[in-house]
Amino acid sequence: MKKDFSIGIFDSGIGGLTVANAIKKALPNESILYFGDTEHLPYGEKSAEAIQQFSKRITEFLITKECKLIIIACNTASSVAYDVVKQTAQGIPVINVIDPVVKHVATHCQNCHIGVIGTKGTTNSHVYPKKLHLLNAKAEVTSLATPLLAPMIEEGFFNDQLSQTVIESYLSSPQLMGIDKLILACTHYPLIQEAIQNYYQGKVDIIDSASQVSKAVKVLLENKSLLSNKEALYQFFVSDYTDSFEKSAKFFFHEEIHLEEIKL
Ligand code: DGL
Repeated sequence: MKKDFSIGIFDSGIGGLTVANAIKKALPNESILYFGDTEHLPYGEKSAEAIQQFSKRITEFLITKECKLIIIACNTASSVAYDVVKQTAQGIPVINVIDPVVKHVATHCQNCHIGVIGTKGTTNSHVYPKKLHLLNAKAEVTSLATPLLAPMIEEGFFNDQLSQTVIESYLSSPQLMGIDKLILACTHYPLIQEAIQNYYQGKVDIIDSASQVSKAVKVLLENKSLLSNKEALYQFFVSDYTDSFEKSAKFFFHEEIHLEEIKL
């Protein structure tokens, strides 16, 4: 494995580009190879078995591209397919988007009430409460499935009246009453972070996976002496190309990008 190999990142669509963008900012010399499984979007509504199969195939693809690290930039796939990806990865290190967030939140909370919002797949897996309670038995954790958010964002509805109404309707749910922290357990949600912050007016600590994951990536690459010192190269693949994905992708990665279609 060479230092200048790419970091392989995948998601069900283009939401994981929020993670890729955080890595680009924190580690500007790291090359990134991104795969968005747009053909099978949304993962949040699919069975665990289907997501495991998709994730296995994507991991095999990333291996053929010689990635030095694989990041599952999707909470839904991280919830149900982390073990499958690790087994398929042939010794290549794998980072999911859940563990770095859980570690951060569990160590920064005493008797606190943590809210979790994500897809049905993520909340039905109960992975956040389970993992949080292993590290912090006293934390109160309540989850709410917010299935409209990812498709809404993917379709370009954010920072507008429609998204504002949907966000307010979810955040005013009884499950989230009295929380001190809110985990954005979907890699699409950094795009609506401002609206969520405005809703809570600073009274709730909002935690997104992108920044926690990029810190974990830095530590892992340092520990394994795999930090690159070459100029970064960025490549983006999707399993089903549409113009609208390419247009939306720039909001997630903060620059124009070219998506290439590849059928796995
Ligand atoms: N970005 C995915 C996640 O973090 C969710 C979108 C989907 O349902 O495919 O869970």
